[in-house]
Formats: sequence, structure tokens, C-alpha cells
Amino acid sequence: MERMVQEREAGATVRSEPILSVRNVHKTYNLGRVKVPVLHGVDLDVAQGEWVTILGASGSGKSTLLHLIGGLDRPDKHTNEPASMRFCNRELTRESKRSLDRYRADDVGFVFQFYHLLPELSVLENVTVGGMIKHGRLGYRTRCKEIVDRASGLLDRFGLSHRLRHRPAELSGGERQRVAIARALINEPNLLLADEPTGNLDLRTGESILDAIIEHRRDAGLTLVMVTHDERIAAKSDRVIQLVDGRVEEA
Ligand SMILES: Nc1ncnc2c1ncn2[C@@H]1O[C@H](COP(=O)(O)OP(=O)(O)OP(=O)(O)O)[C@@H](O)[C@H]1O
Ligand SMILES: [Mg+2]
Repeated sequence: MERMVQEREAGATVRSEPILSVRNVHKTYNLGRVKVPVLHGVDLDVAQGEWVTILGASGSGKSTLLHLIGGLDRPDKHTNEPASMRFCNRELTRESKRSLDRYRADDVGFVFQFYHLLPELSVLENVTVGGMIKHGRLGYRTRCKEIVDRASGLLDRFGLSHRLRHRPAELSGGERQRVAIARALINEPNLLLADEPTGNLDLRTGESILDAIIEHRRDAGLTLVMVTHDERIAAKSDRVIQLVDGRVEEA
């Protein structure tokens, strides 16, 4: 039986087994002949239900690492020791593109650093579109009411029930960020990857967004990996790591 290692004050439970285990991850971007080395052997374990914060200087590779964990990109292959990224009992580095697409749709919620909302869709549609990606057009049609209800519920919880029909361009930065978080949560992911979810926001808006994430984490027992520059936010998390010279250091 799994051994509980820590009862969170917030109520979420951290268990000892890693839900995510990253080993020897390297990443170099190739821009024509120019190579941009970013990650040089990242090792990281994240336990089920844990909240890990990633700190690091601008350009240190925080977003790059989050994109790799979220299956949006792949680690380098040609290194002496092959990379490993285990999620539950799956080895993500060996999975096909199709299977990584499923992993993203079923298991991961991603809050992008710059929101990435679809400008032509309404707030509500920006959130329900996640359900469409997960279930396909046909599956979505049969579950439409359930998904729309869930999306409306999340948006209501994030204080946006009066903005359902608005387009992203008509929203403030904090409102857009809350839509992005609702979209990340629509499929009830096991793992939420949040890239500076409170960046560029004033203190109060940032705190209310963080509270919304913490509240959801407590209710859903979700595992959270968050990038932030804000050390006060980092102090609230279970563990803080730092990216330095392309590697992880425990802070
Ligand atoms: N698609 C890309 N092509 C080429 N280089 C890239 C690409 N994405 C990121 N880089 C480079 O990789 C390095 C790390 O970028 P990354 O976005 O991961 O940093 P970061 O730690 O998230 O920074 P910030 O705190 O500013 O968001 C940077 O030097 C950046 O220029
Ligand atoms: Mg970044």
C-alpha cells in the first residue's frame, strides 16, 4: 500500500511514489547552423499530489522543461545516456506522436506563459475546446452538455460567469489568464503544468489566480509543477527547485 509521506495543510495529499520521473534530459535548439544549448541533463522527480515550483533566471530553460514534460516537445536523442521521462508507468520518450497527443489530452493541463487563447472563440468556447480535443467531434457531441456545464462551473468559480460570450481581446490580462487556467482544468488532468500563471499581473489579481489554483488542487488532489519568478508564491509550494546551467538544483 502506498505510504503517505505528508498531509498537506491545504488538504491535498502528497504520496511518496513519483508520478513523474525525469532523467538525463538534454535540449538544444537548432536555429540553422546556430545551436542554442538549454538543458544539460535534467533530473527531477515529482510525487503524486506534490506542488513543485521551478525558479530560474530568464532564459534558463524553465518553459523548455515544462514543454518537454507536457509532451509538447521532445528531449534530444543523441546523448551518451538516453533521456527518460516516466509518467505513471509510461515512458514518454518512447511514445508515438499520437500517444503523446493522448497523454496531453487525458493527463495534462497546461497554462502557457502567454495564455495562447484562440482569439476567434468566446471565453466559454476556449474552455470547451479542450473537451473537444479530448473526446473528438463525435464524442464531444454526446458529452456536450456535461462539458459545457463543467466549463461554465469552472469559469464561474474563477469569477468569469459574466464574460462567457466575450472574446479574449475584450478581457483583461488577469481574466485571460483565468480562462487559460479553466481550459487547463476542463479535462480533470492529473498533472497541471503552469508557466508563470501570475506573471505580468498585479499582486491582488495574481493572488486571486493562485488561490483559484490552490483551491482546485485541494479539491482535485492534482499534482502541480509551476514556473514563477515570484518567491512569495514559491514559498507556498511543497518544494522549490532551481534551473542553473541547464540542470536542476534543489533550492
Ligand atoms: N523555439 C526555440 N527556438 C530556439 N531557441 C529557443 C526556442 N525556445 C526557447 N529558446 C531559447 O532557449 C532558451 C531558454 O528559453 P526558455 O523559454 O525555456 O527560458 P525561460 O527560463 O522560460 O525564460 P523566461 O523566464 O524569460 O520565460 C532561451 O535562450 C531561448 O532563447
Ligand atoms: Mg518562460
